Amino acid sequence: MLAGKPRRPRLAHDLVIGDGHPALADQAIRSPSHDRALSVAAHSEQGSSQAGEMRQVDSQPLLEAHGVGKRYGRKVVLQDANVAVRGGEAVALIGENGAGKTTLLRICAGLLAPDAGQVAVDGKVGYCPQDPGVLDLLTAEEHLVYFGAAVGLDRQAAIAEGHRLLADFGFRGGRRTLAKDLSGGTRQKLNLSLALLGEPAVLLLDEPYQGFDHGTYVNFWDHVDRWRAAGKAILVVTHMLAELSRVDRVVELQVRTVGASSNDTVKQSRG
Ligand SMILES: Nc1ncnc2c1ncn2[C@@H]1O[C@H](COP(=O)(O)OP(=O)(O)OP(=O)(O)O)[C@@H](O)[C@H]1O
Ligand SMILES: [Mg+2]
Repeated sequence: MLAGKPRRPRLAHDLVIGDGHPALADQAIRSPSHDRALSVAAHSEQGSSQAGEMRQVDSQPLLEAHGVGKRYGRKVVLQDANVAVRGGEAVALIGENGAGKTTLLRICAGLLAPDAGQVAVDGKVGYCPQDPGVLDLLTAEEHLVYFGAAVGLDRQAAIAEGHRLLADFGFRGGRRTLAKDLSGGTRQKLNLSLALLGEPAVLLLDEPYQGFDHGTYVNFWDHVDRWRAAGKAILVVTHMLAELSRVDRVVELQVRTVGASSNDTVKQSRG
């Protein structure tokens, strides 16, 4: 149960910085790091951190996307897509390449305006983009300070929390190493750690383990268990069907065919 009086979810799209926002007007300058910073901005007013709160599965979802539709030109990517994730739940979002998983996550993160439907979010959102949202010319520590500031952490707190997160994922980048000179998997560890800064209540993770070595990959799913136990709502895009036993539910997005909805819950793996 939520501690105290449940908060009424606010519509993410009251706060959305959509495609019409000046900051997003120039497609050429859009990048995952812009996305992440804007996601933080879009959600930073949406509630207090759930840090340290131990919770059972909540009765109300912390994230709810309802009837979401999105098209690019004539191409319909999402139609009537639905997903809800409660605190203490992990939901996998699956589907073949091009099914619209990243599009739906970006809509849930408040980065992309849907053409139809609504998204309601209760609490801070941590978004881990599919393409590492890091800045080539910053070190890992500079990332922690920069992204920590966006979630209200001062320099010292951001560095302390960030180093703890990086250590959790076995980050081995040097102190002065620029992000562009990190290995792919190491950059991804930074990408994931940035999404976790500030103890967000809702985690939107888009294939967050890409390039992880085996040990870190196994460790990632153990972390999913811990985040669930801590009451976070986790929506993780994955192609790793062998790990679906690690989540509570699986939502599959179908590449849309005429007249079909985008999604279907295909599996209930935990009670
Ligand atoms: N900005 C855009 N303009 C036009 N089409 C786009 C744009 N972004 C995505 N698409 C299209 O929308 C569809 C869904 O893309 P999306 O990235 O959401 O798929 P996905 O399920 O995440 O795929 P993958 O498993 O490869 O990551 C694809 O056909 C893609 O080409
Ligand atoms: Mg994708």
